[in-house]
Amino acid sequence: MRPYRALAVLVSTALGFTSAAFDCKKAQAAGFEFDLSPLARDVYLVHNQTTHPTMTSTKYAINPCAPLKAEPDSVPKIDRCPENAWVCRSVTNYKEDKPRVTEVNAVAGISKSDQPTLQATASGSEKPKEFLWKMTGVPVDSDKWATEIKFICNKSAKNDDLPKLVAFKDGLLELEWSVPAACALGDSDDDNGKGKAPKDDDKDKNKNKDGGGKSNESSGGFFSTVFTLLASGFILYFVLGVMYRYLVVRASGLDLIPNRSFWREFPYLCADFAQHIWETVSGRRRGGYSVV
Ligand SMILES: *[C@@H]1O[C@H](CO)[C@@H](O)[C@H](O)[C@H]1NC(C)=O
Ligand SMILES: *[C@@H]1O[C@H](CO)[C@@H](O)[C@H](O)[C@H]1NC(C)=O
Repeated sequence: MRPYRALAVLVSTALGFTSAAFDCKKAQAAGFEFDLSPLARDVYLVHNQTTHPTMTSTKYAINPCAPLKAEPDSVPKIDRCPENAWVCRSVTNYKEDKPRVTEVNAVAGISKSDQPTLQATASGSEKPKEFLWKMTGVPVDSDKWATEIKFICNKSAKNDDLPKLVAFKDGLLELEWSVPAACALGDSDDDNGKGKAPKDDDKDKNKNKDGGGKSNESSGGFFSTVFTLLASGFILYFVLGVMYRYLVVRASGLDLIPNRSFWREFPYLCADFAQHIWETVSGRRRGGYSVV
C-alpha cells in the first residue's frame, strides 16, 4: 500500500471511531433521531431545606450533552465536582451563614469514555413522545449512583426550561425534562425535513424486541480517543516535519520525510519486536537467552 493510502485509511478509521461518541445533535433512540444540542449547557437545580440549627442546600449540576465545566480555582479542590461528571450532586450546610460542603459526587459520568444511553419505546413508525436518558455515576457504599432523565416532547415548552427533580433515592437521580428538543426529528411535521425518518429495517428490529426499552449504545470511547490522539499526533508530526525540512533544511523529494532513516528502519524494528514477543510467548526464549 502506498503511504498516502495507508494514511487515508488511518484517518478514516479514526473518524469512523470518533463518530461512535455521543453526539447530542444526532442522538438516536429506537431508530429515531433527536437534536438535544439546544440543551448543551450546565443547568443547576437548587433545593434549600431548614435543618435546625443549620440550613442544608442541595445542588444538582446537569449537562445532558457533555461533561460539566470545571469549577473555578477559588473552590477548594476537595469541594469540586469530579472531573468528567455530567451530573453532579453537592450538599452544602450553612451554620450561621458559614458554608461547609458536606457531600459532592458524580451522579453521572466518572471517566472520559463514559456516555449516556438513550431508550425509547416506539410503536411502529409513530414518533416516541418521550425517551429515557441514562448514565451511571460513582459507586457509593453499596449503591451504584446513576441518573435517569425522562425527556418529554413538548412543543409549547421552551428549551430554556429547567428539568424537574422527581426523586433522588438509593443513588438514583430521576429527572423530568419537558422540552421541544425532546421531540423526535422527522419529515412528517414542522421541522423542515431536518431529521431523517427511521429506516425500515431499524423499525422492524425494534418491533421484534417486544416493545421493551431500546437503547442505542456506543462503545469504544477510550480506544477511539487514544487512537484519534495517536493518529492526529502522527499527522501533525508528519506535516510539521515536512514543513521544517522544506523551509529550514531546504530538502526536496524523499528527503522531505522527517526522520527518514528511522522510518526506513521502522518495518524491521517492528518485525524484530514482533519476533521477540512471539519467541517469549511461544517459550522458545527461556531464561532470557535466545537461541542463536
Ligand atoms: C439557598 O440558600 C443559599 C444560601 O443561603 C442562597 O444563596 C440561595 O439563593 C438559596 N436558593 C434557593 C433556591 O432558595
Ligand atoms: C408543556 O409545556 C407547557 C409550558 O411549560 C406546560 O404548561 C404544559 O403542561 C406542558 N405539557 C405537557 C404535556 O407536559
